[in-house]
Amino acid sequence: MKLCRIVGLCMLLVTLVTGLIGCGGRARDAEQVDRDERIVIKFSHVVAENTPKGLAAQRFAQLVAQRTAGRVEVQVYPNSRLYKDGEEMDALLDGRIQMIAPATSKLSEWFPQWQLFDLPFLYSNEEEIHRLTDGPVGMSLMELLKSRNMLGLAMWDNGFKVMSGNRPLLEVEDFKGMRFRIMPSKVLAAQFQRLGAWTLALPFDQVYGALETGMVEGTENTPSNIYSKKFHEKQSHLTVSNHGYIGYAVITNREFWEGLPPDIRQILEDTMAEVTAWERDIADQQNIADLEAIRQAGTTEVHELSPEQREAWKAAMLPVWDQFSDVIGAGLLEAVESVMKLQEPSAYSNE
Ligand code: LMR
Repeated sequence: MKLCRIVGLCMLLVTLVTGLIGCGGRARDAEQVDRDERIVIKFSHVVAENTPKGLAAQRFAQLVAQRTAGRVEVQVYPNSRLYKDGEEMDALLDGRIQMIAPATSKLSEWFPQWQLFDLPFLYSNEEEIHRLTDGPVGMSLMELLKSRNMLGLAMWDNGFKVMSGNRPLLEVEDFKGMRFRIMPSKVLAAQFQRLGAWTLALPFDQVYGALETGMVEGTENTPSNIYSKKFHEKQSHLTVSNHGYIGYAVITNREFWEGLPPDIRQILEDTMAEVTAWERDIADQQNIADLEAIRQAGTTEVHELSPEQREAWKAAMLPVWDQFSDVIGAGLLEAVESVMKLQEPSAYSNE
């Protein structure tokens, strides 16, 4: 073969290989910030994008890109796409990701005091729950995170939980013998045991399949989580019980955060505070809209509780407060009572 053909083939080969390498990385364009300066925050979460947490994560990413002129890139990974329940925390601790926003129930494996937010009938409106999350109770719970190289940045809302099942759930007796999917929280397990039901803690991305196969017959969650993941398609009944709360601790890796340039950290903290207020505003509306969408879907009969039925649920479930007073801490529970200015003595108080 003539030398010139060999040279030509070699040049072609070099061009191809170089091109492939170039495809492996993101194409660099001129105005992109120099890669060495770029700070990437991988934000992993388990819910759909069109949910309060999903929308807030996207908004945070957009505002941060604008306000740092591209110096910080927040990459949002929704729907358990990068890490799912049970994986997120480890990935955060070893620096594979830099931000997560787990439901507070999911912190209880490491910090059992966080089960405070799982207590049934804890609050009756968002203003009350914010008195807890934004006051001394929330701050002392956030302080606990630092012992495991985590830093709490904010508390985001989802909202009230409703009950769903493959039968009407109105009387306490209706729960007897049913299997419910729950988040990994002993308080939530105890709550259902008080109703005579069984529980199975499953990662969020396995709930639809578990409903479809009959592994579980019911769930508790917010309308936005139910609708966005189509759980209602597998649940013939839903009761607007508002018996509990789902909210999120937005958490970063403490070492990563404290290592950020101070000016960048300040922009991120200010933006997080702004997005938190925005997220809380939209969460309630999103759940109202999604509950209506479930009603309109025609798959699920939506029930309301009568005052008598609600009182019967409370009588069955409130003893869980006393049951976990040692685990959560008497001091925290006393703070809850004073913050909430509970009208009627809770199951916890000894009066
Ligand atoms: C669940 O697992 O049911 C929820 O915590 C999902 C979420 O993050 O809202």
